[in-house]
Amino acid sequence: MSDSIDFAAFPSDFVWGTATSAYQIEGAVAEDGRAPSIWDTFSHTPGKIDNDDHGDEACDHYHRWPEDIALMKRLGTDTYRMSIAWPRVLPAGDGLVNPAGLDFYDRLVDGLLDAGITPNLTLYHWDLPQALQDRGGWTARETAEHLASYASVVAGRLGDRVTHWATLNEPLCSGWIGHLEGRMAPGLTDLTAAVHASYHLLLGHGLATQAIRAAAPGARVGLVTNHSTVEPASTRPEDIAAATRMDGHTNRWWLDPVYGRGFPTDMRRLYGVELPERPGDLETISAPLDWHGLNYYFPVTVEDDPTGPVPHAREIRPTDVPRTGMDWQIDAGGLEEFLLRLTDDYGVHRLYVTENGSAFPDTVRPDGTVDDPERARYLEQHLSACARAVRKGAPLAGYYAWSLLDNFEWAYGYDKRFGLVHVDYPTQTRTIKSSGHRYADIIRGHRQAHA
Ligand code: FCB
Repeated sequence: MSDSIDFAAFPSDFVWGTATSAYQIEGAVAEDGRAPSIWDTFSHTPGKIDNDDHGDEACDHYHRWPEDIALMKRLGTDTYRMSIAWPRVLPAGDGLVNPAGLDFYDRLVDGLLDAGITPNLTLYHWDLPQALQDRGGWTARETAEHLASYASVVAGRLGDRVTHWATLNEPLCSGWIGHLEGRMAPGLTDLTAAVHASYHLLLGHGLATQAIRAAAPGARVGLVTNHSTVEPASTRPEDIAAATRMDGHTNRWWLDPVYGRGFPTDMRRLYGVELPERPGDLETISAPLDWHGLNYYFPVTVEDDPTGPVPHAREIRPTDVPRTGMDWQIDAGGLEEFLLRLTDDYGVHRLYVTENGSAFPDTVRPDGTVDDPERARYLEQHLSACARAVRKGAPLAGYYAWSLLDNFEWAYGYDKRFGLVHVDYPTQTRTIKSSGHRYADIIRGHRQAHA
């Protein structure tokens, strides 16, 4: 029922979108001069991905993008958040530009604009060219500089039509999950590498911000980070301290330097790794942004774990709480809380929810339809949370549902389905799920409330 969401809370120019990323949907990994990324390498390493899935074909969006734009039109979205595959544009990571790679994005952007859909482009959604990984990847300072050169190439070509740019998607995942926990590419488990990678990712963000602005005056540049609210498992002082450490690891480490506070001292001490700092870096990292993108999925609860890995806080699994098919706890209140934290604590003056959504095991009914009330419910609850945050002052300008399509869910492969649109991989048939129809209904409801 559309009247369960407080549409009047959202400004009349609030934008509605869907989000995807290149490696998760494009396929065509060896076409038109694209070179491998760290995700091609990782997904082809036996045992890293459920069912040994990989992105070789994914949703075949590289060939089917006109159909996918038509789906966005049917949903009635205003905007589309997508990422550019660095190894399509610069197969070696730096140096020679691959014209065919840039041409693909040029056509895609024009197709979106022709359909009246505003592109919001993310430069780095985890698919580092393997050639750069072979030279140290994010542990090397040069990778941050290469990100900036890549940003100027892309913004130089598309900046006459694209206004909204994000440098990085979820540097936490690249830094911590990719270099410390080893569950994502490049699959390292090394604290020094992870801390250096996190530093160079944020430096790369700052340098790329400058590069986009230089190549495309008028560009609105943002950063997309993912966060969780953190609760202590008990009122024991040890658990409360563990929650502070987990908050530092998950939230403050990624936000404090960007918002001018430097890297948090308590976390520097905890990691005990010297940062590869040079004079001027912090100014680069903290250059004022035009917007901030929040990706929110779930809250975490932790207890003290003195002998465990940093940050010595073990996630516990509260029972009797609703969960998605990822086993992630559902708590829309966390989204409201984090939007307000970015607003009140970090002074963010323009916000987007750049990702939010849920995986559930969908079934296709004999008549071909997909009814997914749990996903629709998740969407409604989180949009209600957004509305509450706006009423309390959050400058929220738009919402991007993750995801337009079912797609390659990283280490989980194709089993986890986040799409508003179902994809039958063997035939590549797309079917809008009932949650997608619900989203279309919500978008219409908002427009009507402001008509
Ligand atoms: C986020 C990623 C996105 C997708 C969702 C479910 O962490 O940015 O690519 O995998 O989770």
